[in-house]
Amino acid sequence: MSLKRTKIVDIFNASAVGQQVCVKGWVRTRRGNKNVQFVALNDGSTIKNIQIVVDLAKFSEEELKPITTGSSLCVEGLLVESQGKGQTCEIQADKIEIYGTADPESYPLQKKGHTMEFLRDIAHLRPRTNTFGAVFRIRHNMAIAIHKFFHEKGFFYFHTPLITASDCEGAGQMFQVTTMNLYDLKKDENGSIRYDGDFFGKQASLTVSGQLEGELAATALGAIYTFGPTFRAENSNTPRHLAEFWMIEPEVAFNDITDNMDLAEEFIKYCVKWALDNCYDDVKFLNDMFDKELIERLEGVLKQDFVRLTYTEGIKILEDAVAGGHKFEFPVYWGVDLASEHERFLVEDHFKRPVILTDYPKEIKAFYMKQNDDGKTVRAMDVLFPKIGEIIGGSEREENYDKLINRIEELNIPMKDMWWYLDTRKFGTVPHSGFGLGFERLLLFVTGMANIRDVIPFPRTPNNAEF
Ligand code: 4AD
Ligand code: MG
Repeated sequence: MSLKRTKIVDIFNASAVGQQVCVKGWVRTRRGNKNVQFVALNDGSTIKNIQIVVDLAKFSEEELKPITTGSSLCVEGLLVESQGKGQTCEIQADKIEIYGTADPESYPLQKKGHTMEFLRDIAHLRPRTNTFGAVFRIRHNMAIAIHKFFHEKGFFYFHTPLITASDCEGAGQMFQVTTMNLYDLKKDENGSIRYDGDFFGKQASLTVSGQLEGELAATALGAIYTFGPTFRAENSNTPRHLAEFWMIEPEVAFNDITDNMDLAEEFIKYCVKWALDNCYDDVKFLNDMFDKELIERLEGVLKQDFVRLTYTEGIKILEDAVAGGHKFEFPVYWGVDLASEHERFLVEDHFKRPVILTDYPKEIKAFYMKQNDDGKTVRAMDVLFPKIGEIIGGSEREENYDKLINRIEELNIPMKDMWWYLDTRKFGTVPHSGFGLGFERLLLFVTGMANIRDVIPFPRTPNNAEF
């Protein structure tokens, strides 16, 4: 084979009809008759397959035999306008080289219509399906959109550590990192494990959030964002929770809660618009195959302002709904941590657009949030989305040293571990705000997938760390 390879996406974008081309990829299907065979080839660059027309006057049946679903090929031939419906051009094969066969007896992706559960069990092969090809191309594009958005706004991408000795959210959901021999743990006189001999000389874990270090950076560089893996050992087997997920956390000096809400709304809209503008083929495929309202929902988010209201107002609406006969699985009362069904009721049934809830009871939020004068609530904000519930969690931060110390003491957070964080409030403290967007929750929204395990290549969930 002598020609340079062209990606299939480029074949469709720049019509080179009338030229000799070379494509490489994996066979999706082969069909035809004794005179002519049609091979649908996909190379992952686009959801579209290129049709290879194989004239049996040029190739023997024997040569074509190993070309089965899943096998990999290099094809050279003339690119011509297609006679068939549904495609613009096709390749009349002159030369075919088979790189690798895929035994039809054992290759699991034969026919279409596998369940999502089955595809999860073959997560090493599912990127070869149309659905997961689309999802992972969109995932890439969303990552690019996120960097572009913040870069263009003058934010700096700041790398926070994955191994940490502090629990940012204080929820005790951390995975421990240790090199200690678990069969021979050293204990002190009280029976507590001695960490002084461990790798870091103290107890260390995988991070649940880069926010605390993000705040250090924001109070120096002004506006930063993080974008990296985050780990939570929460035993919630839901379609919205992963043990390892990716989070984007912007943090901005001098921003108050309103600036924070404005940033969150502009940011999500930018990402959704990016998906429609740059991944339309893939989004359209997912719309047609899985979720006929997907595109409508994405466009809807762009058109509408998000509703902004307080937690207290939100609870009132939910209580009224209960009084009016609406049944929730979990109880509603002031002080409750809202369940996804409550969040979705506000978004999908009541307002019919995204909602930003603010000023939550301090008991259900983290220690670092700015305390309101009422002594009961903090300047938190959660962005709630249709089909998802909470997609963003954030707040204005408590910048007052004494108030922050008091809260840390109230919650019995070990003060000595927090000394470096408290320094931000000791030296040139400023109002500042930030939030965290769960990358996979954004992807659930943009792809219309129903389960978070299907928007990350290799999901990590309770009892599952395969691949
Ligand atoms: O609301 P969370 O816990 O907020 C924080 O971690 C803050 N430190 C963020 C900040 O202010 N910088 O998490 C933020 C978002 C959630 O809204 C959700 O989208 C996502 O992270 N998230 C998860 N996504 C998947 N699986 C999980 N287990 C998640 N937990 C949180
Ligand atoms: Mg939250």
